[in-house]
Amino acid sequence: MRIGLLNGGGDCPGLNAVTRAVVRKGEAVLGHQIVGFRHGWRGVISGEVVELTVASTRGLLYRGGTVLGTSRTNPYKREGDVAAVLDTLAREHIDVLIAVGGEDTLGVAHGLKSEGVICVGVPKTIDNDLAATDYTFGFDTAVQIATEAIDRLHTTAESHDRVIIVEVMGRHAGWIALNSGLAGGADAILIPEVTFDVDDLCAQLRYRHARGANSSIVVAAEGATPREGTMATQDAELDEFGHARLGGIAARLATEVKSRTGFDTRVVVLGHLLRGGTPTAYDRILATRLGLAAVDAAHDRATDVMVALRGTEIVRVPLGDALNTLKTVPAERLGEAEVFFG
Ligand code: F6P
Repeated sequence: MRIGLLNGGGDCPGLNAVTRAVVRKGEAVLGHQIVGFRHGWRGVISGEVVELTVASTRGLLYRGGTVLGTSRTNPYKREGDVAAVLDTLAREHIDVLIAVGGEDTLGVAHGLKSEGVICVGVPKTIDNDLAATDYTFGFDTAVQIATEAIDRLHTTAESHDRVIIVEVMGRHAGWIALNSGLAGGADAILIPEVTFDVDDLCAQLRYRHARGANSSIVVAAEGATPREGTMATQDAELDEFGHARLGGIAARLATEVKSRTGFDTRVVVLGHLLRGGTPTAYDRILATRLGLAAVDAAHDRATDVMVALRGTEIVRVPLGDALNTLKTVPAERLGEAEVFFG
């Protein structure tokens, strides 16, 4: 059997561990050939392939990024691209395609079912917002990096009596902001799921500072949204899947906080730092287990499934289940963190 493998969407620590596991089990245990497509769906459209072997994938376990490359290309966006995908798969004699990605990449994989393509999905998003899986690899690494940054920012904020606003990734879901804010002892956390009022935030900071605190750390997800009419909002560029390219909420917020409270306020945007570098042990293990389960599903020619973490088990779920709704932060989870904001 020839099994294709691609990575789509933003990169994520753990992607290479999936590749290594797919190849190791696929070639050495199950006796299949594994073919990698460069740069996600773009490489399937253009036929950019690379043979993956146990020998060529050694040393990938702890390597960040993706050696296959990735893109946000959507074959359903341009006339002729789906036909090009089918041509490449036929030319390369691909029996099953393993697509590692978030809702966009997996949505394409799901759509190809009607073209007779057998796809197995592996969930991937640093934001941890994919439904149908409890956790996605890369998220733990991102939370760890953000927490370490917040730890460092506490001491410099205290030394200068400052407010520091830390912007982290999280387009539609605030899991990274919530978990790193909770782990790092943030004094306020802003997430996309709960619109914030800048006046309330300033009142909260004033209250803390009036009660003896001389500094504050505010963790803001990049998708945090001010309540309508309370602050300027941002127009953002869209990618091929229609998602806004975000960033900049912390800077805009800092201007407002400084002018309303008079507190010396600084901004740190962690952004892509959260996606770079070596994965944590948790992410290496999760990625490895998902890779093993994906190649097993490919071996079984399981159609239109995604491998997922449920509790401590890796299971197969219908690919469509991952696409219907995003897993967002429930308001009560923010409520748990709010206990520590005073
Ligand atoms: O989708 C994951 C994500 O990391 C989001 O948190 C973020 O908004 C986006 O990707 C950034 O995308 P890019 O790397 O293309 O700028």
